[in-house]
Amino acid sequence: MTPAQVHSSLSQHKDRFLAELLEFLRIPSISADSAYKADVERAADWLIAKFQDLKMDRVEKHPTPGHPIVYAEKKGAPGAPTLLIYGHYDVQPPDPLNLWDSPPFEPVIKDEKIYARGACDDKGQVYMHVKAVELLLSAGELPCTVKFLVEGEEEVGSKHLEDFVRANKDLLAADFIVISDTSMIANDVPSITVGLRGLSYVEVEVTGPNRDLHSGVYGGAVDNPVNVLCEMIASLKDETGRITIPGFYDAVAELSASERDAMAKRPFDQDEYNHSLGIRAVRGESGYSTLERASIRPTLDVNGIWGGYIGEGAKTVLPSKAFAKISMRLVPDQIPDEITRLFADHFRKLAPPTVSVEVRPHHGGSPAVVSTETAGYRAAAKAMEDTFGKTPIPTREGGSIPIVALFQRVLGLDTVLMGFGLDSDAIHSPNEHYGLFNYYKGIETIPLFHQYFAELSRS
Ligand code: BES
Ligand code: MN
Ligand code: MN
Repeated sequence: MTPAQVHSSLSQHKDRFLAELLEFLRIPSISADSAYKADVERAADWLIAKFQDLKMDRVEKHPTPGHPIVYAEKKGAPGAPTLLIYGHYDVQPPDPLNLWDSPPFEPVIKDEKIYARGACDDKGQVYMHVKAVELLLSAGELPCTVKFLVEGEEEVGSKHLEDFVRANKDLLAADFIVISDTSMIANDVPSITVGLRGLSYVEVEVTGPNRDLHSGVYGGAVDNPVNVLCEMIASLKDETGRITIPGFYDAVAELSASERDAMAKRPFDQDEYNHSLGIRAVRGESGYSTLERASIRPTLDVNGIWGGYIGEGAKTVLPSKAFAKISMRLVPDQIPDEITRLFADHFRKLAPPTVSVEVRPHHGGSPAVVSTETAGYRAAAKAMEDTFGKTPIPTREGGSIPIVALFQRVLGLDTVLMGFGLDSDAIHSPNEHYGLFNYYKGIETIPLFHQYFAELSRS
């Protein structure tokens, strides 16, 4: 298909392609909340039905101890290379619900955007691939054999995907992986993601006295676990914004001057950034720009903190316990388990003798960098050039997709991160949305990507 043929074929089906996505978005497939287990399964079944409609050669639901993995495969023309398309059909919890302008699982179109949980992350972006394959099929044989691997546990750490990948290396054998689960710089500044951060995530519990105490009777004499936790957390960064955990930076790969120059040339408006977030200024590690702080530098952030009385009014209480959930975003070549260990050792040492401390690790994930020199990257860049009229810029992003490093390790395969979202799409936040422009642009770009990939792999 020529770019013009793809464009006109898409224009005949736009309404139906949108209606189908809205149906998908109505299923509250919240993987983190066991109350939604049946809905997560329903989303898997919904996808399976769509693959069956396309008459794929193989359509399978693989149960796991958690949520099912959806697999679908369709053979391409003789000699066609194979693309493995990964994505996730689970979504983040929509809380806090009161901050949504419309219910998260009742999608609405407003200002040319689809508002719903999962609209961008990742149902909308996964479904672009399904519809792109439909367009290719309507024109004849597929230029690439396609294998879809769509999981339901990405937002909770992909706990069962690693075992599945290790146990199904033959099933998943491919020439390249493509994932649409990242952002572009802007709708008129296309980009392709070449770096993702990793993650180490821990929960800490600080225990003081054996019960909550009267803060008048005991306050001042008995150490307060919430105060202690705050002091401990505050000490994890110095005044330059550097993380103080010994050894934390040992493995961090510094970018070359030319890589940093290239990043600095990327269009970025600090004032607009501040304005869009409702902040007056940013703060971060000294010596690095905002874009660098949010992509090529590791972080340590409290994601939640609680303890003591948080109900209405004032209750005078000295709490027995304090808790926090802490994430550390990692960059090449930091190893998640190693960082978790460094954190735990340091955090236990920080505790004064008045309290005891427990550190519980949660899921983690490795950072990833992908090359711009691969057939997959070049095919994606060419396809985006056709549909955006501009060469995409390679960018590093701050979010994590741990499966990318796993695919490299277990399958020996490279990935192209051809995402069509925007940072402003409010993924994981209230009022998540996805532009109609972005949804349709993805469906239009992906068929061209398949064709260029087939061409480049033959040459
Ligand atoms: N799609 C995101 C990751 C992402 C978002 C990458 C924006 C680049 C730009 C993914 O669904 C996600 O939320 N990942 C988690 C990973 C975690 C659960 C292991 C994250 O980054 O917090
Ligand atoms: Mn995602
Ligand atoms: Mn996500």
